[in-house]
Amino acid sequence: MTIRAVVIGAGHYLPKRVVENAEFEGKIDTDDEWIRSRSGIERRHFVSEGETTSTMATAAALAALKDAGKTAADVDAIILATSTADLTFPSAATMVQAQLGMERGFAFDIQAVCAGFIFALANANALIASGQVKRVLIIGAETFSKIIDWTDRTTSVLFGDGAGALLLEAQEGDGTSKDRGILSTDLNSDGRLHDLLFADGGVSTGTTGYVRMQGNQVFRHAVEKLAATATTAMERAGIEAGESIENVSWVVPHQANIRIIQGTAKKLNLPIEQVVVTVQDHGNTSAASIPLALSVGQERGQIKKGDLLVTEAIGGGLAWGAVVLRW
Ligand code: COA
Repeated sequence: MTIRAVVIGAGHYLPKRVVENAEFEGKIDTDDEWIRSRSGIERRHFVSEGETTSTMATAAALAALKDAGKTAADVDAIILATSTADLTFPSAATMVQAQLGMERGFAFDIQAVCAGFIFALANANALIASGQVKRVLIIGAETFSKIIDWTDRTTSVLFGDGAGALLLEAQEGDGTSKDRGILSTDLNSDGRLHDLLFADGGVSTGTTGYVRMQGNQVFRHAVEKLAATATTAMERAGIEAGESIENVSWVVPHQANIRIIQGTAKKLNLPIEQVVVTVQDHGNTSAASIPLALSVGQERGQIKKGDLLVTEAIGGGLAWGAVVLRW
């Protein structure tokens, strides 16, 4: 008998305010055609007054609980992946815990930037597999609109705000790749690549700072590292190399750029029809992008119970990884 961390609910929240590419025209030297063709992004959502990472995370968590038919009282732990917590401390996760009215359990944030949800999934899996908790809410939520330099055309057009959440539950499996739940994880980081993507603020500067990125360098690392980590995770899950196309139902990648998504799918020998794509509507929502894509993919009727999914992400650090799970 193997304990598996099984997804029993998914939900998401997107701020009401939708910003089309055209809104950037005239404010910075850019146009809809450039943004669309270089990134695949058409629009993104931005928070309004009063909305924060924790309020969006709570809304996504409530949607996931509803989808699972559970309440906050059924949850033992909350893990929130974010780089844009409301405050330096306490964690945004403890704010969500309070907003959900949870009176027990524990909550903490994970900070691995755009790869944050992969790291959260791996940590939730470890907590469940070791028997420490039965149900974990894992959330990715970001307000990158608060750390964007609106004068920088190379970054400001790429990001969006939002939140997605999954409820994971400990269930018994046979220990094979036919089990539902998380089947394998692969985590990586290389701090030497710090300068490629970072925010130039924090407690050492007394400001929250802005996103700084060498986009074409990140792009180069992304395709190569995402294909490698996805392949490693598939091997660990017992999915034979070369059989991946037949066995994998969906790849659910971090939604940063359609060209990275296409390039990675090609390296994995997977047709783009088997990739869940939301980047056109959400932009890059960092740690929120994978749970958003999972929830939207389920809502669209793409992702169904029993489907074999490969998720992968890369971001500042650089930090990257992949998770294979059966939905
Ligand atoms: N509008 C118009 N032109 C722009 C622009 C914009 N918003 N942003 C950049 N450009 C210009 C650049 O200044 C450059 O001009 P130059 O040749 O005169 O110097 C030109 O477009 C090409 O820039 P480059 O950065 O080489 O373009 P690219 O094809 O690599 O696309 C990104 C840029 C950012 C879309 C792409 O590199 C990318 O997506 N990188 C990965 C980003 C990412 O995913 N980051 C998060 C990972 S979690």
